Amino acid sequence: MSSFFIFFILSLLSLLPLSLSQPRGILIDCGATNNTVIEGRRWLSDEGFVSGGTPITISVPVVASYLSTVRSFPNDPGHKFCYVARVYREAKYMVRTTYFYGGFDGRDSPPVFDQIVDGTLWSVVNTTSDYAAGNLSYYEGVFLAQGNTMSVCIGANSYTESDPFISALEFVILDDSLYNSTDFKNFGLHMVERSSFGYNGSVIRYPDDEFDRYWEPFKEGNSTLATNSNKNISVSGFWNVPPLKIFETELMTGQGEPLELNWPVASLPFAKFYIALYFADSSDSSSANSRDFDISINGVTYYSNLNVTPAGVVVFAAQWPLSGPTKITLTPSPKSNFGPLINGGEIFEVLPLGGRTLTRDVIALVKFKESLENPPSDWNGDPCLPSQYSWTGITCSEGPRIRVITLNLTGMGLSGTLSPGIANMTALNGIWLGDNKLSGPIPDLSSLKRLEKLHLEDNQFSGEIPLSLGDIATLRELFLQNNNLTGHIPSSLNGKTGLDLRVSGNSLLTSAPPPS
Ligand SMILES: *[C@@H]1O[C@H](CO)[C@@H](O)[C@H](O)[C@H]1NC(C)=O
Ligand SMILES: *[C@@H]1O[C@H](CO)[C@@H](O)[C@H](O)[C@H]1NC(C)=O
Ligand SMILES: *[C@@H]1O[C@H](CO)[C@@H](O)[C@H](O)[C@H]1NC(C)=O
Ligand SMILES: *[C@@H]1O[C@H](CO)[C@@H](O)[C@H](O)[C@H]1NC(C)=O
Ligand SMILES: *[C@@H]1O[C@H](CO)[C@@H](O)[C@H](O)[C@H]1NC(C)=O
Ligand SMILES: *[C@@H]1O[C@H](CO)[C@@H](O)[C@H](O)[C@H]1NC(C)=O
Ligand SMILES: *[C@@H]1O[C@H](CO)[C@@H](O)[C@H](O)[C@H]1NC(C)=O
Ligand SMILES: *[C@@H]1O[C@H](CO)[C@@H](O)[C@H](O)[C@H]1NC(C)=O
Ligand SMILES: *[C@@H]1O[C@H](CO)[C@@H](O)[C@H](O)[C@H]1NC(C)=O
Ligand SMILES: *[C@@H]1O[C@H](CO)[C@@H](O)[C@H](O)[C@H]1NC(C)=O
Repeated sequence: MSSFFIFFILSLLSLLPLSLSQPRGILIDCGATNNTVIEGRRWLSDEGFVSGGTPITISVPVVASYLSTVRSFPNDPGHKFCYVARVYREAKYMVRTTYFYGGFDGRDSPPVFDQIVDGTLWSVVNTTSDYAAGNLSYYEGVFLAQGNTMSVCIGANSYTESDPFISALEFVILDDSLYNSTDFKNFGLHMVERSSFGYNGSVIRYPDDEFDRYWEPFKEGNSTLATNSNKNISVSGFWNVPPLKIFETELMTGQGEPLELNWPVASLPFAKFYIALYFADSSDSSSANSRDFDISINGVTYYSNLNVTPAGVVVFAAQWPLSGPTKITLTPSPKSNFGPLINGGEIFEVLPLGGRTLTRDVIALVKFKESLENPPSDWNGDPCLPSQYSWTGITCSEGPRIRVITLNLTGMGLSGTLSPGIANMTALNGIWLGDNKLSGPIPDLSSLKRLEKLHLEDNQFSGEIPLSLGDIATLRELFLQNNNLTGHIPSSLNGKTGLDLRVSGNSLLTSAPPPS
């Protein structure tokens, strides 16, 4: 409880304006023991956000000091290790993960592993080619906070050969209007590329971009590169709030000539994509002049007869199917007396969200976790999802209501007590907690109307056997042997037909109610 409280205060602190000016959100420097201010931005130590893993300082030079530490996690396929941050429910967040391997474990190349946001497999993290080129890797996504915490997790998979790690994690609150054609209750956005066309400087970010999104330079294509920093653009009112700086450069062609871009550079998986393309004319466009063109993507018409003016225009698609290499072609209209131009673009893969475990079960499991002194190290993030990364010892139902149906922590050396909160996990049909060091009373579990098997044998439970266990009509196995239970066996259980009741090894337990 106390660690939770401290972490809450820390996250509130990070939202205070102080003397720093930075986008609203939480910046976490993974593996760092102290909070720091780097380039005017406040980074927090990750200690209040994560419970497992090992902080490591890397020994090679880094381009930014928040890359000098990482947190590494066990290479334990099927188990996820999560950062959990307090967020504003219903707010939309840009989530960015940054990875710089730095040879922290003495190997030649970085591991490949999975990253997960809440219950959704976000993407594979493969930093191999970036690291070989001496570069960091980052991933950006846009996700809605569906509860008052959001988790970002790292998990090893079958292709993981050494311990996964992370360097930095950022949560930045985005305005409501950004990317708002996306149904964020059911989908997330995984960024593929965000480019400033015709630009050749360093990455455009905060303060040019008020949310610190990264706009990478892009200068390919068989086009003229026109840089005109004193041009008169009057762009405003774009819902996605692109930085004005991207309108200072452009890719363009001469009158009558098509413009072709192999963008995004990456070959795409078969999926649907959110695409936004940004345009603003920089020339003196009098009424006699016009810049009109058609846009196609891989030969499919994306937009016809776009008229670009200094006021600017964005053309977006919410769910455009693509796969493999992508070619964008801007073909001038015959009547246009200027060639086409383009200033910026964003493309995201649209990720169907995996869902979330029912909140009632999550709250109950968290209470149980808090009542244990040594809970399993992967008990963080969503308990059931993604399904290949469910918590140690639980199984869950499928379908629209994801519920925990069994709990099996047999022989895990657990100490602590059995939280009464477990009675709220009403879909449970089996509980196996045998062969641990659990103590304290057995709580009232009579609300578990589907419970068939309750195994609490070989622990240190004390107190009386709750009468209410007799109310669970479905109960077929009740194993309580070798504990420290006292009192007498309730008559509601003793001799109940169809119930396998085992109580031996409780030296103070009597089998019959005292005569009255
Ligand atoms: C972090 O803080 C501790 C305690 O305040 C201090 O001893 C240590 O030198 C600091 N480490 C760094 C890297 O600043
Ligand atoms: C990771 O990326 C490298 C370089 O692109 C590639 O050779 C390798 O196959 C990838 N690994 C996995 C597991 O996808
Ligand atoms: C590494 O970074 C440099 C400079 O930012 C860039 O030019 C280069 O393309 C990057 N290499 C890779 C493989 O991303
Ligand atoms: C997106 O945001 C803009 C600006 O606030 C608003 O005009 C528009 O209706 C919104 N669209 C949707 C689908 O919510
Ligand atoms: C960017 O392009 C301009 C114009 O071609 C050139 O003068 C400048 O040196 C380039 N800057 C970089 C960083 O390459
Ligand atoms: C760009 O490529 C297209 C198609 O290959 C060609 O028609 C056009 O003339 C080229 N433009 C320039 C400026 O080279
Ligand atoms: C920019 O354009 C606006 C109207 O389009 C005009 O009022 C203003 O004088 C122009 N500024 C410059 C520097 O050309
Ligand atoms: C519970 O877990 C133990 C240890 O992993 C295993 O041996 C046992 O078969 C499991 N029981 C059930 C009912 O799944
Ligand atoms: C069960 O959940 C309800 C509603 O969330 C809560 O008020 C109650 O305290 C919980 N029961 C236990 C035993 O924790
Ligand atoms: C068992 O319970 C008795 C009576 O409550 C107590 O004196 C004893 O210390 C307990 N033993 C263990 C191992 O918990």
